[in-house]
Amino acid sequence: MCGIVGYIGANQAASFLLEGLSKLEYRGYDSAGIAVFDGEKINVAKSVGRLNALQKKVELEPLQGHIGIGHTRWATHGRPSDANAHPHTDCTGKFVVVHNGIVENYLHLKEKLAAKGHKFTSETDTEVVAHLVEEYYNGDFEATVQKVLSTIEGSYALVFLSERDPDKIICSKQDNPLVIGLGDGENYIASDIPAIISRTRKTYILSDGEMAVVTKDSVQVLNYRRSVPVAKKIFEVNWDAEAAERGGYEHFMIKEIYEQPKAIRETMTGRLAKDDSGVIFDELNWTKEYVASIRKVAIVACGTAYHAGMVGKYLIEKLTRIPVEVDVASEFRYRSPLVDEHTLTVIISQSGETLDTLAGLKEAKKQGSRVLAVTNVVGSSIAREADHVIYTWAGPEIAVASTKAYTTQLIVMALLSVYMGGLKGTIPPETSKELCHGLKNLPAQAHELLEDVEAIKTFAEQYGFNEDVFFIGRSLDYAVALEGSLKLKEISYIHAEAYSAGELKHGTLALIIEGIPVIALATQLDVYEKMLSNIKEVKARDAVVIGIGFKGDTEIDKYVDHTIFIPATNKYLTPILSVIPLQLLAYYAAVTRGCDVDKPRNLAKSVTVE
Ligand code: F6R
Repeated sequence: MCGIVGYIGANQAASFLLEGLSKLEYRGYDSAGIAVFDGEKINVAKSVGRLNALQKKVELEPLQGHIGIGHTRWATHGRPSDANAHPHTDCTGKFVVVHNGIVENYLHLKEKLAAKGHKFTSETDTEVVAHLVEEYYNGDFEATVQKVLSTIEGSYALVFLSERDPDKIICSKQDNPLVIGLGDGENYIASDIPAIISRTRKTYILSDGEMAVVTKDSVQVLNYRRSVPVAKKIFEVNWDAEAAERGGYEHFMIKEIYEQPKAIRETMTGRLAKDDSGVIFDELNWTKEYVASIRKVAIVACGTAYHAGMVGKYLIEKLTRIPVEVDVASEFRYRSPLVDEHTLTVIISQSGETLDTLAGLKEAKKQGSRVLAVTNVVGSSIAREADHVIYTWAGPEIAVASTKAYTTQLIVMALLSVYMGGLKGTIPPETSKELCHGLKNLPAQAHELLEDVEAIKTFAEQYGFNEDVFFIGRSLDYAVALEGSLKLKEISYIHAEAYSAGELKHGTLALIIEGIPVIALATQLDVYEKMLSNIKEVKARDAVVIGIGFKGDTEIDKYVDHTIFIPATNKYLTPILSVIPLQLLAYYAAVTRGCDVDKPRNLAKSVTVE
């Protein structure tokens, strides 16, 4: 989720590039850089840290010229550093590239290029693209870029600039946004509209597989695979600058909810074997012997990340038969936890900076445990302190209430369980295959769920003014119920409780009275009948029950007042889909109540105090 800009025209490129990047900082902010052609050569300035570090650098040593590209980075491959910041160049410095996305086959390409003598100076996947341009260059910049695009696999928005053909900028996209802003004697390129909205409202929105050749007076778009021109329609932007940052959505939270199919897909990128036979974690590279030596897994996290850990417990125990404990970090650190060198401690944290979680990590290490961090922020404190890191590739999460970070944490929990189970020999190959297949279907299924939200909106409007709501479920549904209830509490300020459905009759049933909304998750088929009995228990007390079940489940409808259906998936993967209606319910309830959705009262995005 990096930000990209480009400029070609009569004005100084650097001034637009820095202004455009400042509008994109919300997409990522661990380093930034620009490259400008001065009439003879391309000059590059980059800096780790927030954009103002780069601004200061450019103030001291201005980059003159009328053609340039720029980038603000949210690290994926390689920690935040000057060397890893974009733009990236080839060995000669004559070709520069900025990139948003992931080049899946970069390791293979890097090896091949290194064998031919290419020297790399960064840890990024993007640098490989610049070297490929150098390798393929045959005097025709456009044809070279076309060849590069057909060589790389993965997702990208890419912008290319060449000293050999400096009157044009070439760009292309696959699964990542890219827009071209149309000016008068000048043109702009950006990953998102906020970067260009102050300069022009006339844009071309590029589609996947399109490549644009941009000069100061023209924009030619073609389908690079078939080499045929594409006639683009001008898209006139009518959002204000603030709405543009949210991609036209009313809040960051709903934008991030809708980004989940992409975030889920990216988190799985390069981690599922092509034939669905298992999971690959290049970043772990564990041996059978190591996994066999693990006697206990201790999961430590806070809030939503803790709820992801609850799902992780079910999955790891079922698929590896290793006992798993899950702790809230603020409890773990003070309870003299029983972890040792045979324990694998899994630390889950979106920000990678939560103080209690970091302290839990340090405590586990002190006791001799190996630590695996699951985090969304490359180079964060937790990533730096851990022995191993698996990144969730959700992109920056701005709304305080976590959504896409949670679903990608669940993806990592599923991948990790299959990976460890595979090494331990506790998963039959058919189960592994089914799970990998199920994982691959999730982005499309999440997308399908997000296409029809009218019923959820209506429930939120109908029940949004209730002061108490209950969430119930069994097994994995219980873990999701906890997350659904936290989401509702934190953004709509409705009092919500989550209960394991079998536990209700041990006290909480006393609170169920006429008209109380109960959200009942019924996706776990091995406890389905039991769950129906629990639904009947609350119905008998005149609760209003909203059931969450699988599409095609005609039974649940008989016992509940309303049903939200989710697409059928493997039982271990249901939380990744069933949480989405709950996120939407919380969101629309908060909107109905007029709450400040993205910045709920008393809460902060990153909790760096005890
Ligand atoms: C709730 C939420 C919080 C965080 C918690 C941990 O929506 O976002 O409960 O999950 O503060 O934060 P991280 O994951 O950054 O350690």
